[in-house]
Amino acid sequence: MERFVVTTSHKPSREQIKLARDLAERLNAKYVNRRHLSDYRKKGRVDFYYVIESDGRIVIRWNGGELFFHPSVSKIRMRNMQNGGRDYLTEALNLNGDETVLDTTFGLGTEAILIAAFLPRGKVVGIEKSVHIYTVVSDGMRRYKPKVKWIGEAMKRIVLIHADMKEFIRKAEDDSYDIVYCDPMFENPKYESSSMNPLRPFASYDTVNEDDVKHMLRIAKKRVVLKANEKDSLFERIKVDKVMGSKKSGVLYGVIEKI
Ligand SMILES: C[S@@+](CC[C@H](N)C(=O)[O-])C[C@H]1O[C@@H](n2cnc3c(N)ncnc32)[C@H](O)[C@@H]1O
Repeated sequence: MERFVVTTSHKPSREQIKLARDLAERLNAKYVNRRHLSDYRKKGRVDFYYVIESDGRIVIRWNGGELFFHPSVSKIRMRNMQNGGRDYLTEALNLNGDETVLDTTFGLGTEAILIAAFLPRGKVVGIEKSVHIYTVVSDGMRRYKPKVKWIGEAMKRIVLIHADMKEFIRKAEDDSYDIVYCDPMFENPKYESSSMNPLRPFASYDTVNEDDVKHMLRIAKKRVVLKANEKDSLFERIKVDKVMGSKKSGVLYGVIEKI
């Protein structure tokens, strides 16, 4: 999906139009008056379009889908932990609470929010390569008005950067983060994981290789944690110290300790 325009919801305010025009300029895209959007779509001139909603939120829409920021899955995972369930991500990261975690594949930030919740004295630096995912999620986190206190506090401890993590980790200094986390798109997608589905058309499908992991280890003080589907080749290609995860979900976290 390549061709897109920026518009507003119906009957926009001046502020919405300004936000849409600014966003179009930032993305080097065309701003389209909402009244003319259906012409563009009928003529097949757009694959997807950005909408500035009446509350200022950014949503991407296309035939049959929409992408917007919402921390609902973080909430579900936290509730599960509070009810005594295991969360293999937080176990694999083994946090003290004061670390800086580099999340090299930020996506919708679901896991970053969860990680930040366990870092009262630390922070998460997130990297996202897709400009569309970055735009929706960074704006969404900025505008989101949390009703749940821990989510608001966790989001304040997250910094999101638009970059290719492969370049980013090669430029970073030795030992500059405590933990490096990487959750690339699965080779064998779990389509039933509906929260990931809106992200798929825009995601980068880069695979992680040995040289990437060498740099992740170089810039991490404590450990590197990688995530994969049990059917993926990641843990056949990359040697890890231990793999943890639930048989039921088939989602695995591999841990490489620095020392
Ligand atoms: C499986 S999703 C991550 C989901 C995330 N853990 C969450 O909880 O929402 C993978 C994300 O990594 C991004 N990605 C893939 N390759 C990347 C790269 N080289 N640099 C930065 N981000 C990348 C994809 O665009 C996608 O958004």
